[in-house]
Amino acid sequence: MIVPTPVRQRAELLRQQLEHHNYRYYVLDDPEIPDAEYDRLLRELQDLEATHPALATPDSPTQRVGGAPLSSLPEVPHRLPMLSLNNALDAAEMREFDRRVRTGLGQETVVYAAEPKLDGLAISLLYEDGLLTRAATRGDGQRGEDVTAQVRTIHSLPLRLRPVSGQPWPDQLEVRGEVFLTHARFRAFNEQARRSGGKPFANPRNAAAGSLRQLDPRITARRRLDLFCYGLGAIAAPPPPWTGTHVASLDQLAAWGLPVSPERCLLSGVEACIAYHAELAARRDALPYDIDGVVFKVNRRADQERLGFAARAPRWAVAFKFPAQEALTQVAAVAFQVGRTGALTPVARLRPVQVGGVTVANATLHNIDEVRRKDVRVGDTVYVRRAGDVIPEVVRVLPERRPPGTLPVTLPARCPVCGSDVLRVEGEAVARCTGGLYCGAQRREALRHFASRRAMDIEGLGEKLIDQVVEQGLVQDPADLYRLTQADWAGLERMGERSADNLLAALARSRRTTLARFIYALGIREVGEATAAALAAHFRDFDALLQARRDDLLQTGGIKGVGLKTAAALVDWLAAHPGDSPPAATPEGLADWLASLRIRGLGRALAGRIVACFPTIVALRQARVEQLRAGTSSVVEGVGPVVSQHLLAFFAQAHNRAVIAKLRDPAIGGITWTVPAPAAGAFSGDAAPAPLAGTTLVLTGALSQPREQVKARLEALGAKVAGSVSGKTDLVIAGRDAGSKLDKAQALGIRILDEDALWAMLDAAG
Ligand code: IVH
Repeated sequence: MIVPTPVRQRAELLRQQLEHHNYRYYVLDDPEIPDAEYDRLLRELQDLEATHPALATPDSPTQRVGGAPLSSLPEVPHRLPMLSLNNALDAAEMREFDRRVRTGLGQETVVYAAEPKLDGLAISLLYEDGLLTRAATRGDGQRGEDVTAQVRTIHSLPLRLRPVSGQPWPDQLEVRGEVFLTHARFRAFNEQARRSGGKPFANPRNAAAGSLRQLDPRITARRRLDLFCYGLGAIAAPPPPWTGTHVASLDQLAAWGLPVSPERCLLSGVEACIAYHAELAARRDALPYDIDGVVFKVNRRADQERLGFAARAPRWAVAFKFPAQEALTQVAAVAFQVGRTGALTPVARLRPVQVGGVTVANATLHNIDEVRRKDVRVGDTVYVRRAGDVIPEVVRVLPERRPPGTLPVTLPARCPVCGSDVLRVEGEAVARCTGGLYCGAQRREALRHFASRRAMDIEGLGEKLIDQVVEQGLVQDPADLYRLTQADWAGLERMGERSADNLLAALARSRRTTLARFIYALGIREVGEATAAALAAHFRDFDALLQARRDDLLQTGGIKGVGLKTAAALVDWLAAHPGDSPPAATPEGLADWLASLRIRGLGRALAGRIVACFPTIVALRQARVEQLRAGTSSVVEGVGPVVSQHLLAFFAQAHNRAVIAKLRDPAIGGITWTVPAPAAGAFSGDAAPAPLAGTTLVLTGALSQPREQVKARLEALGAKVAGSVSGKTDLVIAGRDAGSKLDKAQALGIRILDEDALWAMLDAAG
């Protein structure tokens, strides 16, 4: 029969594609397309070959059972072939399977053993005299790869069976099962791969396959594979009594210590099977590993034997599949979402597609590096996947389906929520919006931080209240908090007039603060309490900080090209050789001599540059490492290149400056602060004595911060903190409700400070 040319060409193309995808899947463990897409291509070819039998060839991919063993792992024959399962895709196909079974057995109702269809890879295990002696992959079903050393690394698998009295194992016990990777291990592996610039796996099954087929079992061991046994392989005749039913076999394997799915159960009749399938589908996402359906097996072994096998699968079992967790779709757009801390996350807007039974229209792309690595573009056809609690993810692009004229995705320069600049600190994967005080996405977080105890300490303004004022649109930024009236507060849930009054009083109290607290309250990224205090002590004037430029925060120095190690090595060498000097006293001679010292990293060109700054050996011998080493150093403690970028970007935003102006405006926020006393005035010289050295203090009454912390800060400043008031006490800090110690201090005429005065003193002391 003549096959029309277009049909012949189509079949040829399908064969090529299927071979290619087979190779990606079985050999590389790195498929380009989801299984469902592969099945679609295979079905199309099968249909063509069925309609045009002249097309069929013995080497067509339709004639294969599975992948050929192609790695360099040794090959082993299976004593009993490892077969496949027929699928049922819906309840009707499931009922059809049951009907065939009932007809074949002449029974009205059949009892089935059910267990999850694990989405991993098949393994055959051989126990000889109770010892694990061989493990092999499925390969082409007849011959697999010897992965004994790799399988031995699976902790849940016993290397020696556990004896059970009265239940001896056969001399040779062949067990079949599925090797898989849990979601947690899969995520951990991929995160690690992403961090180290490696290639993540598309799904746990490929990760399991890739890990098992490692030539080096130490790599397999690190991946922490798991395994469940689901059946028996070759069994010596006559079969032992425990093989009478499928569940009895599994129970026996479990008794010998082999891992068996805890979900296994026995069901009578097909409707119970359909109900169980639905029940497991509902629980699918909560399981710690991927499953792609339920396998139903006729329970009685005698019945299984009566039904027998078709070409490549038993007639007594079926895999009732779940909807695929992977699918192909198109990227309609790439949007950037702003999280509550300002992080921008790229999200693919997709042409809606069914994945694992739900419609997926968005998928995370993690971060801009990930978008670039995968090179996802608008218009691309992509492979998406969802599983477990993982949000849908774009696994990869199908480059051959990319339409012409697409452009790479770029990071927006402005925050899509508030328009502030987007900052991406060098070396960090995450890009962030810098409009922390103003950005709607960061509002709740900014307010929560602003009001917190260590920041503005607005007592009573907790998360629930913040949520309400934000939801009701009463507050856009922290300055708005000070504008709300008693009626505004009293109108909120679980707030009466009294609590509104209390809150207004707390807000009023918070207006008087310290510069350090105010800087900390702004919530600038990487500016914690200590850095805020250091900035306050250094700048003393908020406007000076507001106007600071990079030079005011960082000093650049040293000699270009001189690293820390080279600088240190040179200084050390010179110190260790005090008598050595260059033969020629000219700069040229000095440079040649330096280059001849064979100090790592110090070649002739660099030596020339060093000599340009330190032209004589005498000058060079006086150079310190910091003077030689190229780099930036901090002007303010804790403010390095990263923190200064965050600071400068934050204060550069007009929106942030406007909010700060409102906070300081006497008619709105009215915030004022105490400024630390000049650090250098009281003490001169480099090594200033600790500001409170020689002072003995006593703390009494309730303080707003844990006493231990206050004590530690005082001690850091040189104070001695004593437990009781005596003639030696210099100072008593009296918190709320102070009692007898305060009385005694008064009686002795000792200086007493309240808590506010204490904080002012601490701020002044730096
Ligand atoms: S029984 C002769 N039970 O599904 C029947 N297979 O297409 C042997 N699989 O590669 C299979 N979970 O690795 C069976 N509970 C389960 C299974 C299971 C996963 C895999 C198996 C095989 C494929 C069958």
